[in-house]
Amino acid sequence: MDSQYIKNQNLSSPTFIINTEVLLNNLKQLNILRQATDCKILYSIKALPLSTVLENVMPWVDGFSVSSLFEAQLAHEILKGQGSLHLTSPGIRTDEWHQLAPLLTHISFNSFSQQQQITTLPQSHTASIGLRINPKLSFLNDNRFDPCQRHSKLGVDIDELWQNDAIDSVNGLHIHTVFSATDFMPLVKTIEKLRHYFGHRLAQLKWINLGGGYLFNQIKDYEPFIKIVTQLKHDYNLEVYIEPGKAIVNNAGYLLTTVIDCFISDGKHIAILDTTVNHHPEIFEYQRQPDLLDHVPKGKYSFILAGSSCLAGDILGEYQFNQPLKIGDKLIFKDVGAYSLIKANRFNGYNLPSIYSIQDQQIATLKHYQYQDFRQQWYAD
Ligand SMILES: Cc1ncc(COP(=O)(O)O)c(C=O)c1O
Repeated sequence: MDSQYIKNQNLSSPTFIINTEVLLNNLKQLNILRQATDCKILYSIKALPLSTVLENVMPWVDGFSVSSLFEAQLAHEILKGQGSLHLTSPGIRTDEWHQLAPLLTHISFNSFSQQQQITTLPQSHTASIGLRINPKLSFLNDNRFDPCQRHSKLGVDIDELWQNDAIDSVNGLHIHTVFSATDFMPLVKTIEKLRHYFGHRLAQLKWINLGGGYLFNQIKDYEPFIKIVTQLKHDYNLEVYIEPGKAIVNNAGYLLTTVIDCFISDGKHIAILDTTVNHHPEIFEYQRQPDLLDHVPKGKYSFILAGSSCLAGDILGEYQFNQPLKIGDKLIFKDVGAYSLIKANRFNGYNLPSIYSIQDQQIATLKHYQYQDFRQQWYAD
């Protein structure tokens, strides 16, 4: 993206920018896989449920995957029945089922208990029933991301599924075991385990959802994926779904921010920005430093970029530049499309970033938040 062009546009700051060309490139790449394997692609809208994104993504996917009633309602509004709507969640509420049921084409229960609670309700539905399973294969060292950690809350234990012959009572299985994986080794191992446990009984199912968590646009070798999907279809006649989120939107999202103060603290240069980690809380949650387009690895001038909230740890990171930063300078963070805006909050009363999209140097305004939005959230009825 031409960052100087963006900076010259006089956009309000801070602002979140969706680069539609990048989004479409990600979708085109996924479409190659879809054509090669005949797998079905769902966009996991939790990563960024912005309506404009959903509309752009819709022609390239077979539907959306959601986690809750509100996500399902939004996805349904956009899909208008033109595609699948899958839901999995550990917390499906019985009192919402009458609203949820008519929207869904597929549902993967997280536990036998949830399956029992929901399927015994009187509300009729046409959703194809599946179970999310925990294949008990950990591929991550960090428990915050590992759905297969000990005492996991996510999915039916594969051994229990096997012991109870529960596979006979469903049409599909759902697995989601990785976080930002850049190769298919976890998928290969997981499918091997499933085949080992259930063998030909997998043919009783109609579908399998392989979840999200793979950064398809950073994976070089697609062969293992193509082989897995082809075999699942050939050996068991299964419809195979994937539901990426981050792989579709992350590198399409940028955050433009402006320096509002500069000073020295204990010998280091601090630049206070008009954004905050609360506009991308995973920076603080996971202690991650977001990539900055303006960073010059061997630049002479080092600055700690700090957010404007009262939190001492509201620090985006330390970066280098060829010139010292000054008040009014604009900076752009990249790869912030997923799990940023959806988790953003107005802590300290700082407004949420405005939202723009850019395509072929055409900038469109999508959203500006006002004091009224803050007031509506916090003013008692
Ligand atoms: C069940 C499920 N499916 C899909 C996704 C999307 O994952 P990602 O955005 O990493 O592709 C998630 C992410 O948490 C998930 O929990």
